[in-house]
Amino acid sequence: MVPHVFVIFGATGDLARRKLFPGLFRLMRSGLLPEQFRIIGSGRNSPGTDEEFRYKLAKAVFKFSGSARFDDHVWEEFAQRITFQTSSKDDGEALAAAVDAAMAELGPDTRKLLYLSVPPDSMEPMVKMLGATGLAEDARVVLEKPFGRDLESSRSLNTALHQVFAEEQLFRIDHFLGKEAVQNILALRFANGFFEPVWNRHHISYVQIDVPESIGIEGRAGFMESTGTFRDMISTHLFQLLGFLALEPPVHVDAESLRVEKRKLFQAVRALDPDRVVFGQYEGYRDEPGVAGESEVETFVAAEVWVDNWRWKGVPFLLRTGKAMEQSRRTITLGFVEPPLKMFDSANGFDSQPNELVFELTEDSTVTLELRAKRPGPALKLDHAKLHMRFSEAFADAEPLEAYERLLLDVLRDDQTLFTSAEEVERLWELCDPVLRQPPKVHSYEQGSWGPAQAMELAGERGWRVPEKS
Ligand code: BG6
Repeated sequence: MVPHVFVIFGATGDLARRKLFPGLFRLMRSGLLPEQFRIIGSGRNSPGTDEEFRYKLAKAVFKFSGSARFDDHVWEEFAQRITFQTSSKDDGEALAAAVDAAMAELGPDTRKLLYLSVPPDSMEPMVKMLGATGLAEDARVVLEKPFGRDLESSRSLNTALHQVFAEEQLFRIDHFLGKEAVQNILALRFANGFFEPVWNRHHISYVQIDVPESIGIEGRAGFMESTGTFRDMISTHLFQLLGFLALEPPVHVDAESLRVEKRKLFQAVRALDPDRVVFGQYEGYRDEPGVAGESEVETFVAAEVWVDNWRWKGVPFLLRTGKAMEQSRRTITLGFVEPPLKMFDSANGFDSQPNELVFELTEDSTVTLELRAKRPGPALKLDHAKLHMRFSEAFADAEPLEAYERLLLDVLRDDQTLFTSAEEVERLWELCDPVLRQPPKVHSYEQGSWGPAQAMELAGERGWRVPEKS
């Protein structure tokens, strides 16, 4: 791999500390970074001397890359390549000079990778700065969501981006797509013959994509107040999960083919109906430091989504996510239609719980098919049983990559397969537009609960799979 200069904007921020530096470190440990590289952290405020910056990073990398995976020697090698240079949307000259110097030092083949981990409203001015200072030239640039706040601002951001970059240079990251378990949806669907024939409205009667989180806002009041859970999670992560679940088989598993299919799919998704979207706010949110006393920002969303194409017509997709909920889960459930003829009844133990295929997308991910089976004994009595696969057991010798680690590697490999296109982002905002224009009333819910009662009603009689049947 050719030498690289990585520039991380927002280098003292939360994402850089928790994910980006630990991710790069782990890649180096696994021998997946180029032999020659420099990392220049950047931001408006200096974290002190380079030594002080490295010291703070050492603690973060130790904590977030897993202490068992920390290695002092690799850290020393890694840390000596890190420096910090301040920059802002109005002032990128010193940074551009530092990047040029690092590029000259590493030789003529050196490539630039710019990571923009900056607040949404700084994105556009930063892009202009990158163009004006020449930093954009021949660079690949990674952008953090949300990409704009609505359709109009996302269009304006894309226009600003395209004035400075070609689309091939842009990597819009949605880290959910970097999760092993999410890519596994594609593998299970398209590398096996038996899922696709039943993967449609004839055999599947409902889908739930459920991402409750037990954490609160964890000091991210500024972000939450300006973004809210709908923009943070629904228009991004949960729709991307829906994309992988519902798209048609692509011609190949590559960036272009997946983009073609996702484009078709999102064209078929019906714009959200605000009456079928529930907003909630956990009790006590307004007392969090940095939150407005009268804040109407949603920390919980449940939404009903319809895909109007031949495959999915009439199948409800229910999406739910929120903070301060009872459990942290990332569960996808596909519920199957019942057998056409009821040969068994309640006397045989036949109940109303249909077969479900359940993906748990946690680090220790599982796929489970829940079915009815004969309970051993003298009578033909039914009970529920599971076909279950735990990835850490099935592939005990494999080393999973953390989502950011995987996606950083893909940027190095110039592979946009797991990244989002400009067109897709705009379409997703279009789908969300009715809710942004006419936001639902915000209902309060107890911390540690499953959200407001209205969200339970949205799911109808069947309810949400998590937690009742977990
Ligand atoms: C981030 C959101 O993109 O994803 C957070 O901004 C959320 O609000 C997080 O908590 C969840 O990611 P993960 O990888 O912990 O499931």
